[in-house]
Amino acid sequence: MSPRKIIIDTDPGQDDAVAILLALASPEDIEVLGITAVAGNVPLPLTTRNARIICELAGRTDVAVYAGCDAPLKRPLVTAEHVHGKTGLDGPVLPEPTMPLAEGHAVDFIIETLLAEPEGTVTLCPLGPLTNIAAALEKAPEIAARVQEIVLMGGAYFEVGNITPAAEFNIYVDPEAADIVLKSGIKITVMPLDVTHKALVTKARNDAFRALGTPVGVAVAEMTDFFERFDKEKYGSAGAPLHDPCVTAYVIKPELFTGRHINVEIETGSELTLGMTVADWWGVTDRAPNATFMGDIDAAGFFDLLTERLGRL
Ligand code: BDR
Ligand code: CA
Repeated sequence: MSPRKIIIDTDPGQDDAVAILLALASPEDIEVLGITAVAGNVPLPLTTRNARIICELAGRTDVAVYAGCDAPLKRPLVTAEHVHGKTGLDGPVLPEPTMPLAEGHAVDFIIETLLAEPEGTVTLCPLGPLTNIAAALEKAPEIAARVQEIVLMGGAYFEVGNITPAAEFNIYVDPEAADIVLKSGIKITVMPLDVTHKALVTKARNDAFRALGTPVGVAVAEMTDFFERFDKEKYGSAGAPLHDPCVTAYVIKPELFTGRHINVEIETGSELTLGMTVADWWGVTDRAPNATFMGDIDAAGFFDLLTERLGRL
C-alpha cells in the first residue's frame, strides 16, 4: 500500500514533537504533505518555531511549515506553559531553527492541498486546538467531501477533563472550532484522554528512548523528562502521557487502538462545562454517530513502534 498523505496541524508541545518525529520516521506508512502550526500550548510565534526545530532535528528541512491562526475563532487564547514550559518545548537544548516558514497561510495551504490532491486521499491530523481546520471548513466548505479522514487528539469521556474539571485542553481552547469539525460529516477518529492517559512514558520506556543514543532519542527522552513532572504531580501517574503520538501511531498501525463509533457533541454554551466532549459511549441517545471515539490502546505495542521508528532518525 502506498503511504497515507497527511497534513499535521499542531501546537508543539513536547508530545506534538514526538508525534511529528514518528510521522517523519515512517515514510513507508506516511507522507507528510506539510505541517500547519496553530496557537495552543504556546502562542503562534513559538509553535511555528518549535515545529521547525523538530523538522531540523529530524533532518527534514524540506518539510513545509505554515503559520496558521493565532487565536481561537471566537475567544481569547488560553495557553499551557504550566505543562510545556515557557517555550512549549522545554527540556532539551535545541538550536534555533534556520529553515524559513513556508509562504502563505496554513488555512489556505489546507484548502489548496485538499483541492489539488485526488478526492479522499488526504488525512488531517490535528494535534492542537481545531482552529485552522474549522477556519478552512468555513472558508471552503467544499473541502469536507474531499478529506479522507480526520484523526485528532482531543476530548475525554471517562477521564473527563485536564484543563477544567469537564474539558480537555485542545477542545476547551477552541470549542466553536471543535463543534464545526465534529459536525462536518467528515470521517473522524478521536484520541481522547481515555486513551492517551494509558500511553505513559515509564522510566523503562524513557530509558529506551535515551538508549537509542541518537540526537533524536536523547531529545525525546529529555522532552518527556520535562513534561512528566506535571502529570506525575497532578495524577501520581508513572510518567508523561504521550497524547499526540497516538494520532500518528493510529495512521501507521490502527490495530493498536480500540473504540466505539458513537455520537460526540461539543459543549459551547455552558460556562461550567465549556469544551466538554459529550460522548454517547453507552448509546443512550438517538443522536447519529459522527466519530470513532477511542477507548483503549495496546501501550506496549505503541511504545515498541515508537522506539523502533525513532531509532531510524
Ligand atoms: C493535549 O493538550 C496539549 O497540552 C497536548 O499537546 C495535547 O495535544 C492534551 O490535552
Ligand atoms: Ca498538542
